Amino acid sequence: MDSGMRKITWAAQYMPVLRAIERRFTADRPLEGQRIAMALHVEAKTANLVRTLAAGGAEVEITGCNPLSTQDDVALALDAMDGIRCYARHACSVEEYYAAIDRVLDARPTVTIDDGMDLIHRLHTARRELLSGVIGGCEETTTGIHRLRAMAAEGKLEFPVIAVNDTPMKRSFDNVHGTGESALASLMITTNVLIAGKRLVVAGYGYCGRGLARKAHGMGARVCVTEVDPRRALEAHMDGFDVLPMDEAARIGDLFVTTTGNAHVIGERQFGLLKDGAILSNAGHFNVEIDLERLHKIADAVEQRDGIETFVLGDRRVHVLAEGRLVNLATPKGMGHPIEVMDLSFALQALSAEYIAKHGRELTGGVYEVPAAIDETVACEKLASLGIAIDSLTDEQARYMSAWDVGT
Ligand code: NAI
Repeated sequence: MDSGMRKITWAAQYMPVLRAIERRFTADRPLEGQRIAMALHVEAKTANLVRTLAAGGAEVEITGCNPLSTQDDVALALDAMDGIRCYARHACSVEEYYAAIDRVLDARPTVTIDDGMDLIHRLHTARRELLSGVIGGCEETTTGIHRLRAMAAEGKLEFPVIAVNDTPMKRSFDNVHGTGESALASLMITTNVLIAGKRLVVAGYGYCGRGLARKAHGMGARVCVTEVDPRRALEAHMDGFDVLPMDEAARIGDLFVTTTGNAHVIGERQFGLLKDGAILSNAGHFNVEIDLERLHKIADAVEQRDGIETFVLGDRRVHVLAEGRLVNLATPKGMGHPIEVMDLSFALQALSAEYIAKHGRELTGGVYEVPAAIDETVACEKLASLGIAIDSLTDEQARYMSAWDVGT
């Protein structure tokens, strides 16, 4: 077995929910006749989603959604499978990245699965001739959904898209635990620095930020949070973290992780305030949270190490991980989210793709929630795989919960 396939089978053993879906898909073939276009991080967990969709009868074409997150051996293994074509290559140029997106779209998809909305953006701009053949799509991440909602608000989204990110079974596990654990793991393995006792600045106290803050706190870091939303700032304060503006955090932070989905959260003013040896990283979707263009312009020199760029600013050195791209995926040893977390997220993707294939033609263009039944199916399947039983409502309790005239 080659190395890509070994990685894929390693991940498969910890993905019981997706395996159960694959068994049903193999028997029922609910995706027969569908052509699914995907732009996701091409690594072993994603490969198991691709295999599940192919087992359901779909032809699948996939490329990456980030030039640094592709694992070439997994891409090769996928490309060798029946009914699957993979165009992703690690560290490809921007031109090659978009050429691969076009090759995926050349297959005239009926269903799209995105992580960051690149396929849908391309379909609505340079490849509009393909729009009429698309039944609908699924979107994996917060940033992609922000962009889709902006498109929908302007009446420009021409097919239905399921916001897979926005469902409890995704956000509460993938964003919180997945990003929390994997961003810290990647930061540690890339730099080899100690977390305990360090002042770690988390920018953005959303789902990703709060997972990261809690886990870093658990490892002994002195965590502080920056926010722009007063409710989330208050939540961070009451969860026990220091909340302060980035200008103040920049002066005291040893390690920084941005998780805002916003641009230039650490910019020129803060570069002037950072301590010597500060380590900057980003866990938000795009590489825009740290203003690297500016940092390159003001640096006296830049030194390269594996996964680390060091910017010399006078007598200070500031280090940036993974070129400011997703730190949990784009460092040389970044593995992305833990397997069990992606088992849940990709189970949601597989069932949402099945839903779109079946019901997409009944829906108009816009962003749709994951149907509650899908969310619940994934939770039940996961609990069953863990051997965890829960209570169910008695008839009396069900009546009580739906009554309005019973009180004290
Ligand atoms: P969220 O919307 O729950 O949280 C973002 C938070 O950042 C909000 O509380 C917002 O008020 C805050 N924020 C916005 N601008 C800010 C600024 N200038 N300074 C400080 N705070 C600011 O979003 P979520 O789910 O936490 O996702 C965040 C980003 O992480 C998105 O880009 C998402 O696509 C990405 N993501 C990355 C993953 C990974 O594997 N690294 C996994 C899941 C999501």
